[in-house]
Amino acid sequence: MKKITSVLLASALLGAALAGCGGNNNADTGNKGNAAEATNSANSGAAGGETPKVGVAIYKFDDTFMTGVRNAIDTAAKGIATVDIVDSQNSQPTQNDKVDLFITKKYDGMLINPVDRTAAGVIIDKAKTADIPVVFLNREPLPEDMKKWDKVYYVGAKAEESGTMSGQLIVDYWKAHPEADKNKDGVLQYVMLKGEPGHQDAELRTTYSIQAIEDAGIKVEKLAEDTAMWDRVKGQEKMAAFLGSHGDKIEAVLANNDDMALGAIEALKAAGYFTGDKYMPVVGVDATAPAVQALQDGTMLGTVLNDANNQGKAAITLAALLAKGEAPTKENVGFDITDNQYVWISYKKITKDNVADAK
Ligand code: GAL
Ligand code: CA
Repeated sequence: MKKITSVLLASALLGAALAGCGGNNNADTGNKGNAAEATNSANSGAAGGETPKVGVAIYKFDDTFMTGVRNAIDTAAKGIATVDIVDSQNSQPTQNDKVDLFITKKYDGMLINPVDRTAAGVIIDKAKTADIPVVFLNREPLPEDMKKWDKVYYVGAKAEESGTMSGQLIVDYWKAHPEADKNKDGVLQYVMLKGEPGHQDAELRTTYSIQAIEDAGIKVEKLAEDTAMWDRVKGQEKMAAFLGSHGDKIEAVLANNDDMALGAIEALKAAGYFTGDKYMPVVGVDATAPAVQALQDGTMLGTVLNDANNQGKAAITLAALLAKGEAPTKENVGFDITDNQYVWISYKKITKDNVADAK
């Protein structure tokens, strides 16, 4: 353990000194996650090599919400685990290589945010063979994969819940604003910006948001739906295309996350919205800092807090306990454990009126 820690510390320093030079894997990691790595080295130094070593693989560093989770993991790791946080660069083969490396380095635990959630089974097989407990987060493994081993956990949020809440935000607006039915046909014409197809959050948020609107007795008509892959620039492009084909017929925009919602807002601004009385209700999910700003500016109608801090904290606490060979309980994890393998973190509706809850 001491050796691993000092190697990591040395490479973190090297990474800082030789940023951009490549080099070994640890230095490479350090270059990509400068802020995180600097704190990590402090962690390992302070812990004197006594804390378990946990390899953390994020699906990609270039994701606004997961950057929040990554920072939360790093902060919550202080004193309980020495973390080696790596970027899987949105490639499952790259992530599998990182997992192999964690195993070769004989880390005590792993915390994995899968690139492709259906690849979790392969990772579980590897982890089980090496007897290294694994916690997954944000991208939920299939139930049959979770059943492969009892030292496998998942930390996340119920996608259905966020979908329902974002639909309810639109319902509240629609009911309070009769003018929202622009063509006065009693039907809500909407467009949907989807996250990555196959991701539980993309599929379920899409379904459940519309379900919530229909459950409130509102008729809906989908004018367009397309994936913008959680991405702000793609969200802007897709929204511009929707406006090109449907223009003023659009009465609401639902996005599976805030980055895509913010992209849509850019496209709407370019089309003259949010000046004078030209308005469009836009909802997202995550409650990232720029989204909170948009709520305050009055461009975003609402979002749903996807609690990065508690997801990161629960995940690393769980991984550290498992890595030490301890049995996780509600008491030592600090969060409820469902079905012996799941920690669910609640979502919360956020509008201009309760932005403080998202900060
Ligand atoms: C979702 C989040 C998205 C994106 C995605 C990555 O929970 O809402 O913004 O970060 O996870 O898997
Ligand atoms: Ca209408």
